[in-house]
Parts: sequence; C-alpha cells; structure tokens
Amino acid sequence: MIGQNTKLNENDVSTADNLTIRRPDDWHVHLRDGDMLQAVAQYTARQFARAIVMPNLSPPVITAAAGAAYRDRIMAALPEGCDFEPLMTSYLTDTTDADDLAQGFADGIFTAAKLYPANATTNSAHGVTDVANLHAVLERMQKIGMPLLVHGEVTDSEIDIFDREAVFIERILSGLARDLPELKIVFEHITTSDAVDFVMASGPHVAATITPQHLHINRNAIFAGGIRPHAYCLPVAKREQHRLALRRAATSGSPKFFLGTDTAPHEVAAKETACGCAGIFNAPYALESYATVFEEEDALDRLEGFASEHGPDFYGLPRNEGTVTLERQPVDVPENIAAGGTGIVPFHAGEQLGWRFAG
Ligand code: DOR
Ligand code: ZN
Repeated sequence: MIGQNTKLNENDVSTADNLTIRRPDDWHVHLRDGDMLQAVAQYTARQFARAIVMPNLSPPVITAAAGAAYRDRIMAALPEGCDFEPLMTSYLTDTTDADDLAQGFADGIFTAAKLYPANATTNSAHGVTDVANLHAVLERMQKIGMPLLVHGEVTDSEIDIFDREAVFIERILSGLARDLPELKIVFEHITTSDAVDFVMASGPHVAATITPQHLHINRNAIFAGGIRPHAYCLPVAKREQHRLALRRAATSGSPKFFLGTDTAPHEVAAKETACGCAGIFNAPYALESYATVFEEEDALDRLEGFASEHGPDFYGLPRNEGTVTLERQPVDVPENIAAGGTGIVPFHAGEQLGWRFAG
C-alpha cells in the first residue's frame, strides 16, 4: 500500500509521501552475544517481526540445547513488550549429529541450518571442511524439509577473493542442488551475477538473500581515497556489473530473492585496525537503505514482496500480520552508535537517506 494522506494514483509510487508494507522479516542477521547482543538486538527488533539468527558465536551454536539457550538470551535482551521472534539456526560441522539436528527442527528450536565452509569468515573455524562429510545430514534435512543456508565462498587461498563465490557455485553448490533436488537451499548474501544466474536457473527450492550493502556499493568503496574498513564484509563487494545484476534481481519481483541484511556488528576498534573484521552493521537503517535502492530502481511497489512475502513463502512460514510505514523524510545516519561501552560505525554513517522508518 503506497499513499499520501489523500487518495493517490496507485501506479504513481514515485510521488508518494509514505509507503506502508506488510511487516517485514530479516532472513539473515548476526545478533552476537553478551554486551553486544544487549546493544544491537533492539535495532533488528524495531524494524522486523522475525529474523534468521546466524549461529557463528564463539563457540558456535551446534546443538539444539545451545540453540534454545541462545534464543533465551536473545529474548532476555529485547525491549519490554517487544514481540520480535528470533528464528534460530544450527551451525553445521563435519560431525553434526543428524538426530539432534532433526529433533531441534521438530521441536521448533531450529528453523534452518547454516553451512560455513571452514574458515570462510568470522568464527567459521569449526565449519565444514568437505561437504561430502555432510551428505547424510543434508539428506535428512531434505527429507524433513529443513532449509540449508549457505555461505557460498570457497576458502582455497589460491582462488582470488573476488572469484570465490563463482568458484563455489561451480565446485560445490551446483552439485549439491543437483544431488539433493528437494533440499531447500538459501544462497546467502549473494554478490555476483553468477549467483543471480545460478538461482534463476535452479528450481523453486533454491533462493537467495541480498544485503543492502551489496545493492549500494561495489568494490571501489573499499578503497575510496584510502582503505575503508567499514565497507569490508564477506563476501566482499564485487565489480559494478555485479551490483547492477543484484539490483535487477532484488527489484525483479521474483520470489527467489528476499531480504537478508547480514547485519554484522563489530566494535569500531575491531574494524579500524591492521587486520580488521569483516562485517557491516546495517540493522539501524536497514529498511531505509533498501527503500532507497528500490526507489532508485523505480520499483517501490516491489519492496513489499522482497521484504515481507518472498521469505516466509520460501521458508513455508506464515506472512506477518500488521504493517510498517516508511515516510519520505530525510534521515541523517550517525557516524557512530553506542554499544557495550564502545561504538559501532553503521552502514551509511554520515550520509543522509531519503526515507524514515515510522514504525
Ligand atoms: O562480513 C561478514 N561478517 N560476513 C560473514 O559471513 C560473517 C559476518 C560476521 O559474523 O561478522
Ligand atoms: Zn552473515
């Protein structure tokens, strides 16, 4: 629903002063733990009804018992009266116990399981060294309808970092999708036209999330006038042609693409250092950031599908009741957001966005 205070022409979204959509979900977040969890959970809970919570804690969330305990800690960190629902994920390892995983899914503790190739990113040292080790687990997931969420990069240091997603498709993902045709696979935070093409060419069981940063920046942003640690995440942003392919996919209306911010807070000192962490904290202005892209692409009427419909439809969960509204108002994004006695630099720090989340 797109409207001004008075009745408007529904086709003329570009002149609307506000945009009301079904309450959205975020299908990829890092909420962390401890003080950081206390500081950041509110931002995701403010904009989204549900979120897929990634399990790359230290140590990672491997068992159903650990998933339930983490969910309790998240609930305890939420503001009073908040109805946000964290959807928990299990971290797959070479030795994942298929029975515990299936039981966790049956009990409603786990919504999905995450495949991190070993050492691909933050806290992934326990990840999977060879997907062949997971074959029985993946077959079980296919059987019970449990989605597999994939960090799609090879970790081979011989492979150029900008090619690691494309090589992952070639070496691993295409085989997985072929051998397990009924397994629901979410190709997370895609960054290339290769990934868009793969998802489009695959059957209805393969979908992808797209982050705000990969819609806004290309790899030049990481080196604009100096090294820019706050533009560094994994997978790294790629060439402009890839960003444009992601924009076309996100705004296409295809149910295979949906919102997943990959909000990944790191305190400022962990980013601004000789070996800075990967991750962009985009939760505070996530919807504003996506709305800016959809408006630039003249596709505001497709934001609701991407943000609120395609995700739950793919996961087989109900769409949310209720709505949220974005107003066409300038919003100044702060340079720094206080968190756990320190600060985090948010995505778009110091910029002005043209939409304001009104709740
Ligand atoms: O940039 C990233 N940060 N990519 C990931 O895959 C993990 C995340 C994190 O947890 O910091
Ligand atoms: Zn992530």
